[in-house]
Amino acid sequence: MNFKDKEIKFVVDGKELGGFAVYPKTNCPHLLPSHIDSLNRLSEEKKDLILSNSCSECQDQSENWFCLECNLIGCSREVKGHMAKHNSETSHSIALSFSDCSFWCYNCDSYIITGHLEALQRKFSAIKFPDEPKIKKVEEKKEEDKVEEKKVDEPAEKKDEVKKEEVKKEEKLDEAFDKLKITESEFSYQALIEGIKSKKYNRIAFLTGAGISVSAGIPDFRSPGTGLYSKLEKYNLPYPEAIFELGYFRNNPKAFYTLSNGFLTAEVRPTTSHFFQKMISDMGVLEQSFTQNIDSLELEAGLPEGKLCQAHGHMRSCHCINCHKEKDINKMMESIKTETIYSCECNGLVKPDIVFFGEKLPIDFFKKSNLLKYVDLAIVMGTSLVVFPFASLVSMIPKEVPIVLINRDESLQGESNYLFMGGDLDQNVVKIVKDLGMEEQYEKIKKEALAKYEKKNE
Ligand code: OAD
Repeated sequence: MNFKDKEIKFVVDGKELGGFAVYPKTNCPHLLPSHIDSLNRLSEEKKDLILSNSCSECQDQSENWFCLECNLIGCSREVKGHMAKHNSETSHSIALSFSDCSFWCYNCDSYIITGHLEALQRKFSAIKFPDEPKIKKVEEKKEEDKVEEKKVDEPAEKKDEVKKEEVKKEEKLDEAFDKLKITESEFSYQALIEGIKSKKYNRIAFLTGAGISVSAGIPDFRSPGTGLYSKLEKYNLPYPEAIFELGYFRNNPKAFYTLSNGFLTAEVRPTTSHFFQKMISDMGVLEQSFTQNIDSLELEAGLPEGKLCQAHGHMRSCHCINCHKEKDINKMMESIKTETIYSCECNGLVKPDIVFFGEKLPIDFFKKSNLLKYVDLAIVMGTSLVVFPFASLVSMIPKEVPIVLINRDESLQGESNYLFMGGDLDQNVVKIVKDLGMEEQYEKIKKEALAKYEKKNE
């Protein structure tokens, strides 16, 4: 399935697949980032479960679901309906099918899919059905050949039949995971470099997220171990995203103020990715940069304000959430630094103008998203693309427009006009700048921006 398809169809190798009783919903409101985390953990830590599992109640192994809320395994309605029973008892809504790797929301009573779920679906399918011919590609065949060679060289002590079976199974799993790094595309790295150099691409859009500010010292949200959401135990939150939820903030503002001290108040300088965007802007080929980040480091790098759309707001101003009066941002920052709650005269809480879950995105986001219809290249950097409606910007880019994803994880599964550059973001951007032959321009931008920054913070 292509993420960019607005009318969702399950198409693999040009063929529409059946098997779904209902077309999946693409905007299930019950899907939470914590569900994606749960799936990531399943794919990394408990991948054996995908192959062998049994219902926690009746131990049936034929057709089971995996609850993304509490990780319980329950059999389908075709067996004894223990997962449906679990849902009615707990309201846990979303489950992964171990039979065909689809996702079902019991509250929407529908299959569901998003770009991110689809990426995970492919991941699980590759584990579950490693021999399925339809997902094989040329590179994968080469990888298979390598594994075959390895098998011939298996050490003597592993010749024992049982061990051999285990090794084979492990290899199959590893192979399945390795396959994910391969992205077949008609859009090559060479085409990217030549297209930027020649200004064939002269309406470029950036779609960015927390990953681009990680090297500035700001943690991202969802990277296991280092991301903000994995470090919130001491706040006793019901779930990590609550820290940025309006409803939770109203009742527990202290948690936000405490957490933000350090996270939102640190002195940070723009990174390679910010300077790169300024460079593209200076070339006169930047249509718009859309970011989920609230740090405004693009502006620090020198990007003109009109070229930046801060979809989740920023920290340059603040308002009372009760009477909506603008308040003093310096006082706000002081309150965060001293971890004291900043209240308005009306007793309402004051909050920086960042978008919390449960709040509308700025009107600028909806207006500017239309610009994506006219872009000729999109570069997506440092985002897991799990938060909507930002993630849906990808579907507004015309199908024929190439998309480059520069990210550690392949958070987007594209179609033919798609290039994935995995690994470290800064390193990838440095490589692009070098291959464009624009190191000098880049260094000048960096030097000027950092000099301005130092002066401002003297
Ligand atoms: P995430 O933390 O969800 O994703 C960051 C992405 O950047 C991940 O895919 C990482 O693998 C990648 N990444 C991090 N460091 C990297 C590096 N050095 N090199 C390459 N890739 C790297 O952050 P966002 O997608 O921005 O919203 O999260 C979106 C929204 O979720 C945020 O704006 C925030 C949060 O809840 C609100 O609070 C409303």
